[in-house]
Amino acid sequence: MKMSESGLDDRVIETLNRMDQDMPSIPAVLGQIMNLTDSDESSAGDLVRVLSRDQALTARILRVANSAFYGIRNKVTTVDRAVLVLGFEKVRRLAVGASFMAGFSNRVEQKRFDLDGFWLHAAAVGVFSERLARERGAESPGDAFTAGILHDIGKLVMLVYFEAEFFRVLDRAARDEIDFHHAEMLELGLGHDLVAGLVLRHWYIPDHLAEAVREHHHPATSGAEPGLAARVWLADYAARRLEIGFSGSPHLDDRPDERPTGPAFGDQALAATVEALAGEKERIVDLAGALAEA
Ligand SMILES: [Fe+2]
Ligand SMILES: [Fe+2]
Repeated sequence: MKMSESGLDDRVIETLNRMDQDMPSIPAVLGQIMNLTDSDESSAGDLVRVLSRDQALTARILRVANSAFYGIRNKVTTVDRAVLVLGFEKVRRLAVGASFMAGFSNRVEQKRFDLDGFWLHAAAVGVFSERLARERGAESPGDAFTAGILHDIGKLVMLVYFEAEFFRVLDRAARDEIDFHHAEMLELGLGHDLVAGLVLRHWYIPDHLAEAVREHHHPATSGAEPGLAARVWLADYAARRLEIGFSGSPHLDDRPDERPTGPAFGDQALAATVEALAGEKERIVDLAGALAEA
């Protein structure tokens, strides 16, 4: 791998504090809710208290809770109710996704980038990761959902703070008909996976989630069981094969050196996974719509 262009990684690190100022509600919410544990009696109350201070976020969470994605019978009108009906962990993971979407959507709106398509891709990878974790994995499905929703957040960091570089990558991907990650390695020598790893660590996302996001394009699968990063890789692959949303390039150059090894990643197993996940598309559209709507 060549070195990143003129210390681009250092420049990303330098923007972290600016990001706190530009999107203050993200660190404020995450800092307070990521350390709450499900088992603690007082946690549900703390979660409700934090979220209640942010009306826009509350509205977004309630909209998702009432969307067809969860299909609950009686509409919930308060965060307390949502926690009671959906559970602490689901509400927390919605809060994480929603606060990122709200923060970045406010910064991105004016630019020539398909943000709705991007959030649809993110939602698909969240839903797929969760389902794969539930069916096959040892990881918590909630962690898998969060890692999936956030996996490409580095692209938005690049779009907002390094716009010229971002569009160079986007144009390169279109011109050479290659995928976004391939194009950014050729153009910049720095991937959105590493960028996201830096940002998530800065923003209180637990290490194992930040690491899964950072490794989602080259997950280590030397162990017997694929880990969370490999699960996200698989979910990302399926979302792109199924053409759900937009991840920066319509071209999926499936390079053998980037594909994890192991029984879950052979041609037949991959095709079967993609087929099994295809039926989720409608629910994903519901989720993304409810989460991303301003
Ligand atoms: Fe990615
Ligand atoms: Fe992706």
